[in-house]
Amino acid sequence: MRLTHSRASVHPADLAGFSAPIALIPSVEEILRSAAARLKEAGISSARLDADLLLAAAMRTDRLGLVRNRDTPPPRAAVARFRLLLQRRLRREPLAQILGVREFWGRAFRVTRDVLVPRPETELLVEKALEWINIRRSGVESRRQGALRVLDLGTGSGAIGITLATEAPGIHVICSDVSPAALRVAQANARRLRVEWKRADEHGRTRTDTNPSGLAASSVRFVRSDLFDRVPGPFDLIVSNPPYIAETEREGLMPEVRDFEPAAALFAGPDGLDFIRRMLAEAPDRLAPGGAILFEIGYDQCERVLNLLDRDSRWEAPEAFRDGAGYSRVIRARTACAAPRQGPYSRPCGARRRSLSAPRREATTPSGRCARFPVPTLPAGAGPRLRPGDLLAERHRRPRRPDA
Ligand SMILES: C[S@@+](CC[C@H](N)C(=O)[O-])C[C@H]1O[C@@H](n2cnc3c(N)ncnc32)[C@H](O)[C@@H]1O
Repeated sequence: MRLTHSRASVHPADLAGFSAPIALIPSVEEILRSAAARLKEAGISSARLDADLLLAAAMRTDRLGLVRNRDTPPPRAAVARFRLLLQRRLRREPLAQILGVREFWGRAFRVTRDVLVPRPETELLVEKALEWINIRRSGVESRRQGALRVLDLGTGSGAIGITLATEAPGIHVICSDVSPAALRVAQANARRLRVEWKRADEHGRTRTDTNPSGLAASSVRFVRSDLFDRVPGPFDLIVSNPPYIAETEREGLMPEVRDFEPAAALFAGPDGLDFIRRMLAEAPDRLAPGGAILFEIGYDQCERVLNLLDRDSRWEAPEAFRDGAGYSRVIRARTACAAPRQGPYSRPCGARRRSLSAPRREATTPSGRCARFPVPTLPAGAGPRLRPGDLLAERHRRPRRPDA
């Protein structure tokens, strides 16, 4: 065994503290234990997992590789790399930004400081969007309508739009964002994940880069736009994970979120609803008759958002969907169908029509549909701090899908 004689004289904490001579390298397991202790001390709840993933990245292996080599000192170059990565995490930089990647719906999305790290709870939005697309496609009128047109408003890394394009081949997706830097990340993800993509040049013309494998028949286009300015539609479906954190909550956020993720992706005015108010005011004009909007909200915003929809007669059949933790995190509503009893839009929405003046009831369907209901009590101590970042920290303890 290499270096066992010298390991006894070096405490692994010295290594994680960057003071150990490089020749005296402890084993993988010793390094991990010491790094996890330091991460825990720094307030990181997923300390051991983070230590594992950082060391695996530094050793250019995976967690299984760590297990296989747990009693062996890592190569010198890997230790040097690990020191730098650990230092960044100790400063509370998000793990996904350090690794440059985050898994979403089973695919690896590249992330940088220019985009929100895709969150597991956003998978509920994708699930509901796919459900809607399937219902819409199964309708008799779908054959006459051609490819469904979907807008991912505020696409960030492209996680939602690209996942939909890949999971529902044959749709046309526009991924829009106000941030050119975010759009560059989303385009890179589309290329990596082999989705055909189109890009508008400065004159609004589009260029197509075809997926060489020819596997995905969906198309994805990227457009820089402040809300709907440059994406006039019409769309059959608008999906969005908008910024929805209240400015007043900034200081209470975890450092990973507050100090490292783009403010434009997080905050939306004093009550967090500025973006959603604008989106709901403008979206009906961008949707085809019977088109739907599906969007994510904060854990305590359901009641207020449903009230916004109630007050606008252009919206019909608003519904809220709960996540695995019981919070209503996704809202769906649709615009009026053009001709409810005849013609191509006779049954386009796949959802019962409901009078907006009728009282809302607690959901009873297995999919977790609900309308108006009490907001569940927060876990002790979570208070207003339970934001996307908190859920991120808990990702390994929660089921991946609400119904999984
Ligand atoms: C919460 S992030 C969502 C990112 C990604 N869709 C996801 O779910 O991981 C919100 C995104 O909206 C974008 N955004 C903020 N204001 C916008 C606006 N006025 N018009 C278009 N996009 C906007 C931000 O740049 C950010 O990428």
